[in-house]
Amino acid sequence: MSGTCKYSCDTATHTLQWINAIIDFLRPYAFLIHSHVVNFFKDRQWEAVDKEWMDCLRKDPVENLLLIPSGVVQDHWPVSLKDFVLNLRSLVFPREPADLHMSLPGMHMVSVNSVLAQGMNMKKKHEVEVLSAIVSSIADSVRAHTIVDVGAGQGYLAQVLSFQYQHSVIAIDACSHHGRVTDARAERIKKHYAAQMRKSKSGNGRFNVPKTVTCRVISIDMLKTLTGMSLHKGDAEHLGFFEEDNTKLIEEKPKSQCVANSGTSLVLAGLHACGDLSVTMLKAFLECKEAKAVVSIGCCYNLLSEEGADNIETHCGFPMSSGVKSAVFPLGKSSRDLACQSAERWRSLEKDDGLHNFELHSFRAAFQLKSWKQALLLVVKERLCVADSRGKWKLHCIIKKLHVHIFIQTRKEVSLT
Ligand SMILES: C[S@@+](CC[C@H](N)C(=O)[O-])C[C@H]1O[C@@H](n2cnc3c(N)ncnc32)[C@H](O)[C@@H]1O
Repeated sequence: MSGTCKYSCDTATHTLQWINAIIDFLRPYAFLIHSHVVNFFKDRQWEAVDKEWMDCLRKDPVENLLLIPSGVVQDHWPVSLKDFVLNLRSLVFPREPADLHMSLPGMHMVSVNSVLAQGMNMKKKHEVEVLSAIVSSIADSVRAHTIVDVGAGQGYLAQVLSFQYQHSVIAIDACSHHGRVTDARAERIKKHYAAQMRKSKSGNGRFNVPKTVTCRVISIDMLKTLTGMSLHKGDAEHLGFFEEDNTKLIEEKPKSQCVANSGTSLVLAGLHACGDLSVTMLKAFLECKEAKAVVSIGCCYNLLSEEGADNIETHCGFPMSSGVKSAVFPLGKSSRDLACQSAERWRSLEKDDGLHNFELHSFRAAFQLKSWKQALLLVVKERLCVADSRGKWKLHCIIKKLHVHIFIQTRKEVSLT
């Protein structure tokens, strides 16, 4: 797919051009992306899709369908379908990994040892290995005193940054269980490092151990307060104090907020910081002068709060940019769910697994259709109880017809797959 992207994020204007091209592309299909995948079957949405496309795709092997999200077209497809998929391909964000040594020349990546890697699967180990090297390199270049791991989970990133790269780290997470696991892991890792030092008779026996804070970060002020406290030695010793009681933190706010030019500095880091948490990190970075850098890998975009009819909150996670706000293109829950789909994952599915995925959706749709019609029958039956004998006969005929309709319809929906 490389080399096909004609857009860039070099400047704000270029970025906005790209955003608007995506919105123009999506607008005609808003009815599809705004509804749950099950509704494609339940609401007969295929009827609104180009008939030529449907006729072609219906007969195509599942292997070809699994390649569509990756922008792969087939020679025998109608030209308009090929254009659609190629246009889509030209709009996606490039996924080729950056050359990290070019972007961060001083970066030194160290393999995570087996003690630090305990509990991590291969994917997590890879992510932590790369991200800890990036965060450490950036922290060194901005001379940060502290790294704040936001949404630290069980402390994998925080511990590598503390023990391996020797940074001072604060690990914040909303879940107290995660905080306890992080502390227990750190205790085990500390013993291992201490034993190694004794064996080699080196070092002063002191380690950097991440400080854990249990707190649900729900606002920029809260994150600013926490990070501000982490920079003041006296406050930092009491950080564990909050223990999920955010009200205490809010009371502490005026004393501990980030203060410009206080001479201290920090880096905000997040690995899979879900939904609004990544947004809060970015906003805190903009507002807190002591935050010298932010390194955030977002995730769970479906959990982002969104401005709109369902949400009158003014501090929603989406949209962040004034450019997107001015384009007025609400996403909604279904599109955000769709945005979490991975073209890579679809592409790597075997034929049978791919078929199984489609089957699950169509069976669920058939089930939903059936339940909805059964609910309708119940309402009709309830009415039957209060009708007179002529009315009862009429309703009886309607119910019979509905039963036949449900049966035929459900069979039709299932056989479509
Ligand atoms: C997907 S996990 C990632 C954990 C860890 N960074 C990792 O990669 O292993 C996201 C973590 O963020 C935490 N989290 C989510 N929202 C939060 C919030 N508003 N404040 C603090 N932590 C939050 C969750 O409890 C969870 O542990």
